[in-house]
Amino acid sequence: MEITCQRESVAIVGMGYVGLTLASVLSDKGFRVYGYDTNVEIVKLLNQSCSPVFEPGVDKILKEQIGKNLFVSSTFPRQFKGSVIICVSTPIDPETHEPNLENLRAATQTIGKNIQPGSLVIVRSTVPVGTTRQIVATTIHAKVPEVFIAFCPERTIQGKALREIVDLPQIVSGIDAESGEKAAQLFSGISSKTILVSSLEAAEMIKLINNCHTDVIYSYGNEIALMAEELGLDAWELIHAANEDYPRPNLARPGFVGGGCLSKDPYILLSSFANGGYSSKLIQYTRQLNEYMPLHTARKCLEALLELKEGNVQGAKILICGFAYKGVPPTDDTRGTPALPIIEFLRKYPLDLYGQDFMVDSSVIKSFGVTPVDIIDGFRHADAAIFLNDHPNYRQFSLSTLIDKMRFPALIYDSWRILDGDIMANQHGVQYMGIGYG
Ligand SMILES: NC(=O)c1ccc[n+]([C@@H]2O[C@H](COP(=O)([O-])OP(=O)(O)OC[C@H]3O[C@@H](n4cnc5c(N)ncnc54)[C@H](O)[C@@H]3O)[C@@H](O)[C@H]2O)c1
Repeated sequence: MEITCQRESVAIVGMGYVGLTLASVLSDKGFRVYGYDTNVEIVKLLNQSCSPVFEPGVDKILKEQIGKNLFVSSTFPRQFKGSVIICVSTPIDPETHEPNLENLRAATQTIGKNIQPGSLVIVRSTVPVGTTRQIVATTIHAKVPEVFIAFCPERTIQGKALREIVDLPQIVSGIDAESGEKAAQLFSGISSKTILVSSLEAAEMIKLINNCHTDVIYSYGNEIALMAEELGLDAWELIHAANEDYPRPNLARPGFVGGGCLSKDPYILLSSFANGGYSSKLIQYTRQLNEYMPLHTARKCLEALLELKEGNVQGAKILICGFAYKGVPPTDDTRGTPALPIIEFLRKYPLDLYGQDFMVDSSVIKSFGVTPVDIIDGFRHADAAIFLNDHPNYRQFSLSTLIDKMRFPALIYDSWRILDGDIMANQHGVQYMGIGYG
């Protein structure tokens, strides 16, 4: 087997979204990368050069690099010497919202058994502040004291990850100066800028406050939407006019805040304050508000439908468009999708639920308990169409032709204003609504 470049050996633990995109960039830059994942299905797919996730550019690199600079296995390399980057999932408990760090603990144990002195272990997973020192460093140093420890968070956006790994500054920290420098050196091999911060905890917190900031900003758009609805105003009109040529921070559009990270990182930050001291009320309220928006949408849709159908919604055909948690940049990721709570709510009523998405596989749509359809079949005789994301294809469709096929009076709920409100207001037989409108 030909190895073109042996700059440095890097093992990546967890070949999910974060591990895979990082492994792709590193191998493309000439690092010799060993991807390790406990999920044998993922390992099998990757060894066939197929990406288990949708991310532009990854498939091409896999085709070029598998067996050349990138080797994927369900066993961690023995006696490994080099850099190890931990990218395992750190989910939260759906009921308690407490972080579950079992994957991180298991990964750390495996690394501790197989690593050689002088190696560097970097945590890339998102963790509560203090975790890298308390769990990772403690476990590994108990087995091999001469290992460098760092935390360097992942901050890319899905859909643009390969470009952002290279373009975004990489936040870097170490348990000591040498660890930080080693981590900075590694990341300077792929990224144009590294920012070395004073401690592991500072870097862990930076990741969390970045995502919580996004959550907070979006929640303000949602707060405006709820207030506007109450006052009979159009939130989008208010926000557009307020932002136009006004030299202050822009108001955010209202909408759903989903995805694997934004729906859990606020809880991970909050769990860092479990000792009874200060705990952020802003972060708590923000999450509550953003989590309420799907339920609000579901209730509004049901109320409108009951009114349109004079109280009888038995067998009404409801088309739900957009199961990925966001439309732009396109993704097939359904983690934190508003579709789930909306379907759970609507399922309690005698409705026929159908689902459509341009990116998400129909088997995944089916797993939500709805019937997968394409957009044309979905609109035929539909009593309601609910748009949950703004995938660019929705704007390209001649939706007015599709709307003509609905069963009138019909409801269109346009969460992201992908349709022209003026045209829709004059569409005969259609009630047009959206978040913060109608
Ligand atoms: N997805 C994102 O956009 C994003 C962005 C920034 C940070 N993060 C954080 O990065 C981490 C990984 O996220 P992700 O989206 O890649 O998760 P993911 O669920 O897509 O992938 C995690 C992978 O780790 C594997 N794994 C779990 N335990 C393992 C173990 N002990 N040994 C080896 N492999 C193991 C799983 O099989 C899975 O393939 C999380 O902490 C997440 O919060 C994610």
